[in-house]
Amino acid sequence: MRILLVCLGNICRSPLAEGILRHKAAQRNLDWQIESAGTGDWHVGQAPDPRSVAVARRNGIDISQQRGRHFQQVDFERFDKIIVMDSHNLRDVLRLAETDAQRAKVERMLDYSHPGQDRSVPDPYYGGTDGFDDVFVLLDAACTSFLDRTLS
Ligand code: 4NP
Repeated sequence: MRILLVCLGNICRSPLAEGILRHKAAQRNLDWQIESAGTGDWHVGQAPDPRSVAVARRNGIDISQQRGRHFQQVDFERFDKIIVMDSHNLRDVLRLAETDAQRAKVERMLDYSHPGQDRSVPDPYYGGTDGFDDVFVLLDAACTSFLDRTLS
């Protein structure tokens, strides 16, 4: 299984999602390829936001070695599932899809924990530390549901 987590900047939400899902997949002895990318290119090559690194570390996960990268059309072929954080990411990713098979790979992260509600992971970039804790809790639950649903 090859999974790409996508947000806007690839420095706050999707690096956390990548770290959490990697951690949970390793706990279940799954040899999955898990990466993340941003629909925007401002933070290419940068480490995750220090607030994301900190909330991950408080929860026993090291995401400090990740580096930002830009979502590309070729990612539709390189990954089996492309999981987006919010409605803007969904629109931007689908805009690059060229086939129904590519479109079918795109899912919302919170559809796993909150099915049928079209919920978005809120962007914590312009807020305080609390926002990052809230995002961690949302992503932690969604990643557990993702694994449970995918493995069942
Ligand atoms: P992310 O958060 O999409 O969760 O990584 C953001 C990071 C940076 C910006 C926006 C959102 N930005 O505008 O630079």
